[in-house]
Amino acid sequence: MKEERVNGSGRGRALVRPVLIALGAAVVTFAAPSLAQQQPGLDAWQRGSCTACHGSLAQGGGGGEMPAGPNLRRTRLTPAELKETIACGRGDMPYHLEAAYATVPCYGIPVPGPAGAALGAPLTAAEIDALVDFLTKEVVGVTTITRAACAVFFGGNTNAPACAQYR
Ligand code: HEC
Repeated sequence: MKEERVNGSGRGRALVRPVLIALGAAVVTFAAPSLAQQQPGLDAWQRGSCTACHGSLAQGGGGGEMPAGPNLRRTRLTPAELKETIACGRGDMPYHLEAAYATVPCYGIPVPGPAGAALGAPLTAAEIDALVDFLTKEVVGVTTITRAACAVFFGGNTNAPACAQYR
């Protein structure tokens, strides 16, 4: 009698595993395409060195040697304003579109005009569009950093060491 019960629960557990594996596969299948679409934006985030001032997860920079960039998760800017800020810079933030102020006007200043800030890591207009898309879809408004929200910055890899501290 006793042995039968042990066998019974063993069989139950044997069933749970494949079901969990199937569920996991389904989640990966659904999550991967949307994150793959965001790869150009993530590449631009890295090429633009945004992390240096805004933190590795856009949660706001700590300052120190670099100007402290604000938490981009809480920004209230529209996509068009995000685009102009990244292209044209603002205050201590460098501009990233090489042609800004020279042939592309910024903040209504006629070209060629004086750039308020220095040129940062240059990005193309297409890269800035991809970056704005990435920020709008994956970052802005996501004010609590979960393991998944962190993984977005590592191509969806929830096992990235930097994400271990998040749940
Ligand atoms: C050298 C440091 C530095 C770098 C590099 C930098 N930023 Fe900034 N960023 C700042 C600072 C400082 C501000 C605040 C500027 C101000 O208001 O005077 C800012 C402001 C912003 C804002 C406006 C936020 C708001 O709500 O008003 C956005 C958006 C932004 N940065 C995005 C980016 C992105 C994307 C990158 C990478 C391409 C980037 N920044 C690179 C320092 C930086």
